[in-house]
Amino acid sequence: MCGIVGYVGARRAAPLLLDALKRLEYRGYDSAGIATVFKKLHVKKDKGRIHEIDRKLKLADLPGNVGIAHTRWATHGKPSRANAHPHLDSSGKVAVVHNGIIENYLELRQFLRKHGHRFVSETDTEVIPNLISYFMHQGKNLERSIRETTKRLKGSYAMAIACVEEPDKIIVVRKESPLILGIGNGEAFLASDIPAVLSHTKRILVLENGEMAVLTPAKISIKRIASGAVVKRKPMVVTWTAEMAEKMGYPHFTLKEIFQQPDAVRDTLRAATGELEKLVKLLLKAERIYIIACGTSYHAALVCKYALAKLADMSVEAVISSEFQESCRVDGKTVILAITQSGETADTLKAVQVAKAGGAKVACLTNAVGSSITRESNIVCHIYAGPEVSVVATKTFAAQVAYLLLLAIHLARERSLPKSKADELIKRLGGISDAMRAVLTGVEPQVKKLARRYCSAEHIYLIGRGIGYPLVMEGALKLKEITYIHSEAMPAGELKHGTLALIDQGTPVIAVVPPGESRVRMAGNVEEAKARGATVIAVAEEGDDMKGHVDEFIPIPPTEELFSPLLYIIPLQLLAYHITVELGQDPDRPRSLAKSVTVE
Ligand code: AGP
Ligand code: GLU
Repeated sequence: MCGIVGYVGARRAAPLLLDALKRLEYRGYDSAGIATVFKKLHVKKDKGRIHEIDRKLKLADLPGNVGIAHTRWATHGKPSRANAHPHLDSSGKVAVVHNGIIENYLELRQFLRKHGHRFVSETDTEVIPNLISYFMHQGKNLERSIRETTKRLKGSYAMAIACVEEPDKIIVVRKESPLILGIGNGEAFLASDIPAVLSHTKRILVLENGEMAVLTPAKISIKRIASGAVVKRKPMVVTWTAEMAEKMGYPHFTLKEIFQQPDAVRDTLRAATGELEKLVKLLLKAERIYIIACGTSYHAALVCKYALAKLADMSVEAVISSEFQESCRVDGKTVILAITQSGETADTLKAVQVAKAGGAKVACLTNAVGSSITRESNIVCHIYAGPEVSVVATKTFAAQVAYLLLLAIHLARERSLPKSKADELIKRLGGISDAMRAVLTGVEPQVKKLARRYCSAEHIYLIGRGIGYPLVMEGALKLKEITYIHSEAMPAGELKHGTLALIDQGTPVIAVVPPGESRVRMAGNVEEAKARGATVIAVAEEGDDMKGHVDEFIPIPPTEELFSPLLYIIPLQLLAYHITVELGQDPDRPRSLAKSVTVE
């Protein structure tokens, strides 16, 4: 999820790698480390900021002209020295840095333990160097051993491998996580992204999924992992500045993260296994369930509440963390599910402490392994969205919703939903990333035009029903946070109970209309707003005849109502982003807001 870099050439590797690591810092990380090859493997690593680790360990002092380095965003095992990368095999001959998740690491650990390998970290990564050395012990060379290893790995990875037995090269492998190679004069670089190498070379090769590359000072050769077939690829010459490269060509982190949502959802769904089962058991035993959260995470909690009611016939309460103490009662049969991407939100931590004091059991869902909430919880569940740089939450919302929908399906299966139906839903949820990709590229041009038209609005109202209601709340929050336009979301049926008085000629009203039984009643609410002169923008299923009744129609490809939040939120996020850009404001740095709110 975070950064890897590597170097082979005539210069000393460690100072170059340290510099490249600093250029990867913007991606977010909790630990860092470097390994170099010089007669043996030399490793320095720790948790914390790079400059602190360097002050303590003098990272640049490592000897040798070949090395690999890493910034870690923990997914398996808390941030600690032992869990920091590079990881070595138990004989100390193979070093690996890895971004991504190895899903079958427990199985592989068991297998390797039986063959005498010892493990010193809690990470999924440590199986990789051990598996490579297992194959090398059978007499295979490094490249063959890596290819055998990748056949056995399930999950996503970009990794770089150095080995004392073949000391003049680095081998890299890519499946899903990003990886680029930099061509120098008598030297070669690898990195997760371009800014890390830009000060040394502008000649870049992008490694594709399913490819590996062997880097030596003289040349880089790319091959297909499965067949070993050589791939010929011309380098591209990058003209980006370092800042443009950090955003992967996107003008802002906010937009980059909006477009990273399909990957965040895919990684989260794939990695949800053992911890999800524990959570299901805990929730099934509870007499009372509160899902507590703030801001965007609260909107994900509301999606969960609707999904549980509809699919699993379970009634839970979604409560804003700062209101919990005053409004909720707990006892020994209460379970709290705290949702917080940062794991550090003071209001949520406080509510959890109050609940625990009352005897409740606590589970959490977070994007930050080892964060404060994980230390307060009986069961810890993770989303795998990777670090979110932008203050506005986008990809973490999608990942939370995906996890919670999966949870709802599992709970439903335990209660009344036939297994075959549940399995079918899980399969279809697995395919939602592709649908998200299609929506992202499909709606953006239209949303850009709308942003130009509505950027001077003073107020924007958003209406939704059922599972559409949390979506309009999330849409309104995005608009408020970065456009600074007053935006108000409400259940569509509630409009006539007061707010309708504020709607007159030309007031923009966004109606989110996912498929399902609420669709017909939403149509009625749209007419209500139109009758007062509102300009209605509808986000609805393509082909819906509402198109003929509204001023703007944003079509979304068909999906089941349950999964609709993951598609229907996209135009709202994009609208907030593009209005902000139209207004000449910086979406990455909204005024008065902090990414992590650590005060009550
Ligand atoms: C949303 O865009 C945020 N800036 C904010 O509302 C955030 O969701 C809230 O502070 C909760 O954060 P958490 O998920 O880290 O607890
Ligand atoms: N899954 C690995 C770990 O937890 C790699 C994390 C990363 O991509 O930084 O150590």
